[in-house]
Amino acid sequence: MAQEDGNIATLAVDIGGSGVKVMVLNEDGTPRTERSRVETPQPPKPEPIIAAIATLAAGQGKFDRVSLGFPGVVQNGIIKTAVNLDPDWINFDLATVLSQKLDKPVRVANDADIQGFGAISGHGVELVVTLGTGFGSALFVNGKLVPNLELGHHEFRKGQTYEEQLGRAALDDVGKKKWNERLEKAIASLEHLFNYDRLYIGGGNTDRIAINLPPNVKIVPNVTGLLGGIALWCN
Ligand code: BGC
Repeated sequence: MAQEDGNIATLAVDIGGSGVKVMVLNEDGTPRTERSRVETPQPPKPEPIIAAIATLAAGQGKFDRVSLGFPGVVQNGIIKTAVNLDPDWINFDLATVLSQKLDKPVRVANDADIQGFGAISGHGVELVVTLGTGFGSALFVNGKLVPNLELGHHEFRKGQTYEEQLGRAALDDVGKKKWNERLEKAIASLEHLFNYDRLYIGGGNTDRIAINLPPNVKIVPNVTGLLGGIALWCN
């Protein structure tokens, strides 16, 4: 299993509520190809999304294995929640089905966990949140992931969850100014809850952030959601 240059090439896939993105990575996690993207098929059920991944993959050239970030809880390659996609995903064995479709080994993880792997320093308590269609979260202690953190569906304020206050629908609904005020409150709340050394904010809506961030809070580029995929093959 390797390419002509000796590299093991990993197809990194990120399924999001608005787009499905892919890119091939070298073993050291650097990009081998240009990222390509299609709109998330509607309705966002397993079959059309897997077909979209197969089409995108075919346009990326050769690869040996696959890392996939999914917007929900994932256990052993099986989808447990998919709030912003479709209930048909619940208990869907994505790792096995995609592996059969692409004829390559596939590892699947939560999308925010993958963003985190691509963003963290590996030292101390590091929290990652993602602002996209949903609100993703991942916690790392000295580089080790604390699995299945789902802050997004936890109550934040005014009887609403982090996702209800800061997800894509909320941004569209209340506008950028109010959304930024909420984000400022969310950062303060998370700081008190986790006492993290660093907070990383990723996801497609980071370009809407218009507040001054504390020195221990960093915005990470959206491509991190693909680049972090290499970590799934590092153990
Ligand atoms: C899901 C998370 C996911 C986040 C971002 C939330 O609705 O529950 O698992 O990481 O959206 O996609």
